[in-house]
Amino acid sequence: MRILGIETSADDTGIALIEAEGAYCTDFSFKVLANEVSSQNVHAEYGGIYPNLAKREHAKNLPLLLEKMPISHVYNSCDIHAIDAIAVTVGPGLEPCLWEGIEFAKKLAVQWHVPIVPVNHMEGHIVISMMDLRNPSLGELATFEFPALALLVSGGHTELILMKSFGQYEYIGRTRDDAAGEAFDKVARLLGLPYPGGPEISRLAEHARKTHEASPRGFKLPRPMMHENSYDFSFAGLKTAAERLIKSKPLQSLGREKLACEFEDSVTDVLVYKTLRAVEEYGANAVVMGGGVSANKHIRSVLSSKLEAVSSKLLVCPPQFSTDNGLMIAIAGYFHALKNEFEDPKSLSANGNWKLC
Ligand code: KG4
Ligand code: ZN
Repeated sequence: MRILGIETSADDTGIALIEAEGAYCTDFSFKVLANEVSSQNVHAEYGGIYPNLAKREHAKNLPLLLEKMPISHVYNSCDIHAIDAIAVTVGPGLEPCLWEGIEFAKKLAVQWHVPIVPVNHMEGHIVISMMDLRNPSLGELATFEFPALALLVSGGHTELILMKSFGQYEYIGRTRDDAAGEAFDKVARLLGLPYPGGPEISRLAEHARKTHEASPRGFKLPRPMMHENSYDFSFAGLKTAAERLIKSKPLQSLGREKLACEFEDSVTDVLVYKTLRAVEEYGANAVVMGGGVSANKHIRSVLSSKLEAVSSKLLVCPPQFSTDNGLMIAIAGYFHALKNEFEDPKSLSANGNWKLC
């Protein structure tokens, strides 16, 4: 089955085309025929995403990315054999942005006479991390056993989800305020770094670890809710603590790199500690980490080694697929297409708060 995946839930426009076959738990495999992402740099100077600006950029980018698909010739003709279904993100995310992708998908579906599969963005992040991408253009389901936990860490979400089987989700914890990625972006702004802040903070922190890891930092940021009984998170207080610190002393004397490093350590400690506790409580054999923050090298490496020590396994996609893309939507869409979960284009609508369960 050939599936076109369309992603426009935030500030990345993504379209991918895959050819997939088999059932998920037995003989599933896919080829990536194309995967194009256009990251909007128009938000860099504002330190966050402006929904209407993002929507306009999606409208501009979608036809350009489609042109790059190996089926671009069908856009104006009508070769219905080239595509079997269109998968599109309908939530969660910014509604003006979601609508742009949905309307684009509807137009193509009508033109090509193909069905549409609505996809949950967070499920897209989960499934792509469950894949063994042997090379960037060939993949299959990774080997692991349920129960598993999903740790979703993105610009809008921080969630721990229990999965007893494929496609079955149960929330066990979520952030009570800011998401982990949002905290990275806000603290980056305080440090005078551009949006998105995650990769910038990570770069400074890595440099700090290489150069003056041993030297005392002279300050400590909190590890919010780390020792509380629940699996919920809270990152707004961490940002406020960083802000207070920056106001109390010139940034130069604190050291931008040291602060970036301490912040990254704090987020890592909280995510890893809570995930490990959940792994033990639920007997999880694997942790599937997904979302933009899962591109973070430090978090990956600490979580992976801690999980290894308790005989659990970290499943995470190559970092270039951690941030939003159409490939994850195409893969998730395939599993729903297998179950005939298509939707009438007339009733398809955006759901900015769509929960997995
Ligand atoms: O999943 P994603 O692309 O979009 C949403 O669904 O929100 O995640 C974007 C978030 C941003 O907050 C960005 O700063 C963060 O992922 N991010 C990172 C890294 N790369 C992206 N955070 C920490 N370290 C990184 N290397
Ligand atoms: Zn995302």
